[in-house]
Amino acid sequence: MPNTPPKRLASSLYTATYASRAAVGASAPGRVNLIGEHTDYNGGPVLPFALPRRTVVFAGPAPHWVAVSSRNGAPTRFEPDDAPVGAWTDYLSGVVRVLREMRAAPEGASIAVASSVPQGTGLSSSAALTVAAARALSRLARRQLSGDAIAEVAYRAETEIVGVRCGRMDQVIAAGARSGHALLFETGAGTMEQVPFPLRVLMVETGVTRHLAAGDYNLRREECEEALQAVRDAGIPVEALADVPAQELTKLEQALPAAHFRRLRHVVTETARTREAAAALAAGDYLRLGALLFDGHASIRDDFESSCAEADLVVGSARTHGAWGARLTGAGWGGAVLILAPADRMARLKAGIVRDFRAAYRRVPVHWETRAAGGLKTEPIP
Ligand code: GLA
Repeated sequence: MPNTPPKRLASSLYTATYASRAAVGASAPGRVNLIGEHTDYNGGPVLPFALPRRTVVFAGPAPHWVAVSSRNGAPTRFEPDDAPVGAWTDYLSGVVRVLREMRAAPEGASIAVASSVPQGTGLSSSAALTVAAARALSRLARRQLSGDAIAEVAYRAETEIVGVRCGRMDQVIAAGARSGHALLFETGAGTMEQVPFPLRVLMVETGVTRHLAAGDYNLRREECEEALQAVRDAGIPVEALADVPAQELTKLEQALPAAHFRRLRHVVTETARTREAAAALAAGDYLRLGALLFDGHASIRDDFESSCAEADLVVGSARTHGAWGARLTGAGWGGAVLILAPADRMARLKAGIVRDFRAAYRRVPVHWETRAAGGLKTEPIP
């Protein structure tokens, strides 16, 4: 049932699997990061918005832990205290363990999950799951946690238990998104500002699947930490990489190994681009916003080296066919490209991108239009 809304799917899955009605439900969205890539673990700003595609979790009381997902077939028993086993239920275990520390976990639960967030496309299906699960399971334990607290539970579940050293962007937007807005989240200061974002966005999936835990991402984090140390050793006492003043870059080029310098330059220039993008968006200056997206893509391609050939082709093609801007979104090394363009140019743009992509890769890339949607919700039991 690929077109059944995830809410209906999760609720019928719950009833069919556990022969009873769920007691609680919650849902949370996937996200697109407009700009601000690999800045969230470097103290910089990010500007994501939530997708209308969501993950829905229904749960009811049980003396043990069991979960079923519309994607994975049979119900699976899991024990939250076990070490991660590389299964999707690791994310649930992570949530349960963090909630337990807060005395906000039930004794056990029967859980049913369904999702319309594409997996492996850099659209944050894991944060949609952990955020929705944290809300549903804490409700089952009769606790009312704020959206911020839920985001923190989900962040800790992923970093401390599952072992992906991500930043906080995905969990924060999944919990705190507002429909029709992007969220300027300054990860260093912890401040948040909703910026109206009324545009339709074209998404083109590269079809290249990335595995966040597979190493590239964690390797970049290490390089950023080493670069920070080298910056401090060069006599610039910053808290985080995003705080390095742009005018110090020339001097630092001599002091840092070449690859580390490129990572630093990406973070510093991306930080400036993201703040300017939020201002351009607020002013309705889509031409400027688009130019910043193109620059951001060049920076992850050349300096952060986290793009892939398919994404570079889509971005180049979008530029040729009249887009305002385009860039690979999410962690990188595959995933999806976001494209901004005037509404009356969309049809021609899509046709041009599909033509160019097919000529190079002999397949039509999955593509769809979307717009900024809302965040975490408690779902009524049907
Ligand atoms: C992943 C992580 C985020 C962020 C992005 C890159 O989505 O989960 O925290 O670091 O990559 O911007």
